[in-house]
Amino acid sequence: MRHLAGRFFGALDPRGPSAPLEAWAQGFLLAGERELWMQMSGPDRRHAAGVARKVELLLNDGGPAPDRPVMAAALLHDVGKLRCGLGTFSRVAVTLVAMSLGRERLAEVPPDSRRWRARVGEYLTHDRIGEEMLSTAGSAALTSTWAGEHHRSREGWVTPPRIAAALNEADGD
Ligand SMILES: [Fe+2]
Ligand SMILES: [Fe+2]
Repeated sequence: MRHLAGRFFGALDPRGPSAPLEAWAQGFLLAGERELWMQMSGPDRRHAAGVARKVELLLNDGGPAPDRPVMAAALLHDVGKLRCGLGTFSRVAVTLVAMSLGRERLAEVPPDSRRWRARVGEYLTHDRIGEEMLSTAGSAALTSTWAGEHHRSREGWVTPPRIAAALNEADGD
């Protein structure tokens, strides 16, 4: 809950990452991935760059930097949120409702639903949507796979355990 509140107030600041952090992040992205990255909001890019920085710390341990696809996974794991187009207030509302009603139940959108209801479903399935978008953009399998499984419990992870654990810990949501 405290974490959610922090994310909420952070999201009210529209700025993206600092210029050096932005350049550092973009250096890990393929051309198609960069196009998606540029469509993400400032707060979403700040979150993603923060995750990538933590992943680098967790994984490199004085050794070589993590592979590019791992860094791209950190940067683009939430890219599927682009499709729903929901802003900060709606996202918080959906997250709170999903916490009480159950994510799976709310993610299922009855046919012929209104657009707002479809958006709720899209937000709650941003993992699967992101996986699709990244495959289409030409990402490495590790990048798109992690996007698809980043809200799954660890028993369901296909991503190599050490990498998945770092990506998960750095994301913290
Ligand atoms: Fe997510
Ligand atoms: Fe995230």
